[in-house]
Amino acid sequence: MTLKLTVIGTGYLGATHAACMAELGYEVLGVDVDKEKIDSLSRGELPIHEPGLPELLRKHTQSGRLRFTTSFEEAGRFGDVHFIAVGTPQRAGEHAADMTYVDASVTAIARAATKSSLIVGKSTVPVGSARRLKTLARDESQGGVAIDFAWNPEFLREGFAVEDTLRPDRLVVGSDSVGAVDVLREVYADALSRDTPFIATDFETAELVKVAANAFLATKISFINAFSEVTETVGGDIRTLADAIGLDSRIGRKFLNAGIGFGGGCLPKDIRALQARVSELGLDTTMRFLNEVDEVNLRRRDRAVFVAETLVGNLEGKRIAVLGVAFKPNSDDVRDSPALDVAARLFNSGADVSVYDPAANANAARRYPRLNYVDSLSEAVRDADLVMMLTEWSELVSVDPDELAKTVAHRRIFDGRNVLDHGRWTAAGWDIVSLGHKSELLDEVLKH
Ligand code: UDX
Repeated sequence: MTLKLTVIGTGYLGATHAACMAELGYEVLGVDVDKEKIDSLSRGELPIHEPGLPELLRKHTQSGRLRFTTSFEEAGRFGDVHFIAVGTPQRAGEHAADMTYVDASVTAIARAATKSSLIVGKSTVPVGSARRLKTLARDESQGGVAIDFAWNPEFLREGFAVEDTLRPDRLVVGSDSVGAVDVLREVYADALSRDTPFIATDFETAELVKVAANAFLATKISFINAFSEVTETVGGDIRTLADAIGLDSRIGRKFLNAGIGFGGGCLPKDIRALQARVSELGLDTTMRFLNEVDEVNLRRRDRAVFVAETLVGNLEGKRIAVLGVAFKPNSDDVRDSPALDVAARLFNSGADVSVYDPAANANAARRYPRLNYVDSLSEAVRDADLVMMLTEWSELVSVDPDELAKTVAHRRIFDGRNVLDHGRWTAAGWDIVSLGHKSELLDEVLKH
């Protein structure tokens, strides 16, 4: 008999996982405490921008293979496997992860399960959580109902979430139960038929794989951004430096793009939560380098604001066009977005900030309603004293400098993502300053 799956938590991770599991042929029930979210998902409507996901959601809500509910009772009767995909945000005023939603979900589904089933954690959690949650689930379950437990971290990238879920580059399962691992081999049979590496391990390793991967990626970005500080001072080309070290296959070119740094719902909070957790374990200095990684990352935003101030003089009343506010291109997510942070800081210093993002304007407006959000690039740059390229959407990067020159007040552009061709922009009469590049113009202004 085909396994019936529930996915608890229908945010980014959960909605994607639920739709992809339905695509693989399973009957899936998505569960969330947010009734509005459940109602809109049931209608096949997705509140996030993710290529390919709306189509899958519509296809499977229509076929009936994918349903949504707020009822844990229904989920407990229905599911053979319950995936936990709720968020673990940074706790307010602290670095540690907030486990409230994970704990509540595991408790609720363990209480509601009326048949023997497997609970599988997918959320990113502090190491040691899975073992604790396994005990919690057993304690909360009904008599005679056997609950198995596993941890199966998720590595999906926003913008590629469907692809990453249907065709993952590896599957990691932590458990102390052979039965649990076998069930997950069955769930992921499609990926396994293509020889996807399947790593069966203990709970702690599985939990750590996720945070280690994100900590490594964050470190790689801050590594190149630290070198940006050097090339900004001494000269040199940060892109060529990245290309040259990236050709060493031990290093690799990916995640060496210098710019205003990393943001999003994972990297920043995960490196902070890892430090907090490891300190709790008495290893106060072990992950201290991640504090530097965080600080290098945040300094890039300071640098962007500094360059803007230096280029336009006093920011008060200056018109600044911000191109891109999503935390990365092809996403409408503005969680911890470096671009939005820079835009808000310019506004708070008195600048008149016009923002254009191909997908994230609405989300950004909910966070910082006082910026001037416009519907097109040309509207954003009209009469601008400075244009700031902060998120490298291809629509924005491919803009023609000659065209843009016609509408701005001053031909000044800041390239916060190292994506613009200096020669081309300079030939069109622009002053261009990029992070990671020494700027004679800046030096000149600073001299006076
Ligand atoms: C990340 C991980 O990549 C993914 O495996 C995990 O499951 C969740 O967290 P995501 O948050 O979607 O995924 O974004 P990612 O593509 O990793 O980018 C993170 C941030 O780093 C973005 O703000 C991006 O602009 C920035 N970045 C990325 C750089 O500044 N330079 C780079 O070279 C790469």
